[in-house]
Amino acid sequence: MAKNFYITTPIYYPSGKPHMGHAYSSIVADIFARFKRLEGYNVLFLTGTDEHGQKIEKEAKKNNKDPKIFCDELSETFRSLTKTLNLTNDDFIRTTEIRHHKSVIDIWSKLVDSGDIYLDKYSGWYSVSDEAFYEEDEIEENHGKKISKSSGSIVEWVEEESYFFKLSSWQDKLIKFYEDNKKFILPESRRNEVMQFVKKGLKDLSISRTSFSWGIPVPKNNKHVIYVWLDALTNYISALDYPDTGSVKYKNFWPADVHIIGKDILRFHAIFWPAFLMAAKLPLPKRVFGHGWILSDDKKMSKSLGNILDPIEIIDKYGIDQLRYYLIKEVSLGNDGSISLENLKNCINNDLANNYGNLCQRVFSFIKKNCNNKIPKKSKLIESDKKLIDNLKNNLSKIEAFMNNQDLNEYIKMVVGFSFDANKYFNDSEPWSVKKKDPERMKNILFVIMEQIKNISILLNPIIPIATNKVLGAMNISNQNINLDKIKDENIFDHEKELNNLEILFTKIEDDN
Ligand code: ME8
Ligand code: MG
Repeated sequence: MAKNFYITTPIYYPSGKPHMGHAYSSIVADIFARFKRLEGYNVLFLTGTDEHGQKIEKEAKKNNKDPKIFCDELSETFRSLTKTLNLTNDDFIRTTEIRHHKSVIDIWSKLVDSGDIYLDKYSGWYSVSDEAFYEEDEIEENHGKKISKSSGSIVEWVEEESYFFKLSSWQDKLIKFYEDNKKFILPESRRNEVMQFVKKGLKDLSISRTSFSWGIPVPKNNKHVIYVWLDALTNYISALDYPDTGSVKYKNFWPADVHIIGKDILRFHAIFWPAFLMAAKLPLPKRVFGHGWILSDDKKMSKSLGNILDPIEIIDKYGIDQLRYYLIKEVSLGNDGSISLENLKNCINNDLANNYGNLCQRVFSFIKKNCNNKIPKKSKLIESDKKLIDNLKNNLSKIEAFMNNQDLNEYIKMVVGFSFDANKYFNDSEPWSVKKKDPERMKNILFVIMEQIKNISILLNPIIPIATNKVLGAMNISNQNINLDKIKDENIFDHEKELNNLEILFTKIEDDN
């Protein structure tokens, strides 16, 4: 069986510079991508920018820029963020690329051929900011303005000629699909939301606009541009060379294993996207995971509230591993979660500096001082040694299951627990006090603790790659060779070889920093 794995982030609107929410989705996806590679999968991890539509056109005008030039500049800030976040994305797609254009035209033609598209007139509410149509019962009045209840963004009345997609005719097939694929939408609460919405009845979807021009023209009627969401969703297959379905990329990686998205764009991914694909007779993705909102001090981050945490500023100051760890440890994936600088600092100090970081530094310097800087060989392990090592190994399949269900919080909780136990083991075993009277015992303790540090480092590697690569590198395990099999293997240490110098992993943050 081919071990391929395809994971995506949303493609972001380059209408402004990237913020913490964008960073969050990308980091989450990167962690899963890295973990699957540790499991031995051939992974394709895709991210990119969503560059057409009225929102971008408007923003470009505001900046007196041609939309393409505007996108070139801002898309670059998203591309550069992938480096800052230490993402391992294999590709970065822009919807203004030719490969994407071809793909969207093909999908459109497939939907025309299947009889799913017709021309009519749209009248209703539209939010440019969300690039979404809303029903009357989805909007409310706020200070004399009509806004979307779900996103709070302003809606305007739109009346224009439009092509429609026969979404209504896919309702029953969608419901059947959700029922047959219980884990298509995760978490469960999101799945229920979607089911309810679809069961209420689906209306046909307007899929073209005429009141602006920044988009892909509808074939044979270039008065219209294709609705930006039909355009954007297609990115997931244009990056696989679609419509060339014979391409190795397409064959290996479609259908996608998981689309990681925020809950704000669930409807597009869990309803529209599968309906488009069914109509085009293409396989559906295996999973859509909708995570929650990152809030800042319990409020949604917004410019007017002045509570925006800029990921780049935070990374400059505290480090990328630190931010990655914090977002995963403190925000429950799937739910909204509040973040703050105060908590970030505590998390760095308690979890990273005091727990994992301190354990590694102490053990490495002890070995340097007492064992010629070489990992000792084991001779006879006692009950408490075995217990420590086996507890991690015996939980490995559980740990893999957590990751494969996107249960990131359970995963990290368990791994942090191992690190806590390892610290306690080191303290309780007191290698320093048996050094003279029982050097063999000391060696065994050091073997065990190094074994444990190796295994914990491998498990933490998808989350804090920089620090764990330092630790594993200092043990002469190069980052190309890190995988889950290395956990099962107790004989991978080159006991002859001297340990490399372990650089500082995490500096504690002082109060006024
Ligand atoms: O919706 N907390 O792009 P977008 C957590 N182009 N995640 C957040 C967040 C927050 N406060 N704010 C944003 C679009 N996100 C479309 C997507 S996909 C085919 C097209 C994340 O720039 C979250 O993943 O508005 C959300 O779904 C996404 O950014 C929206 O980014
Ligand atoms: Mg948005």
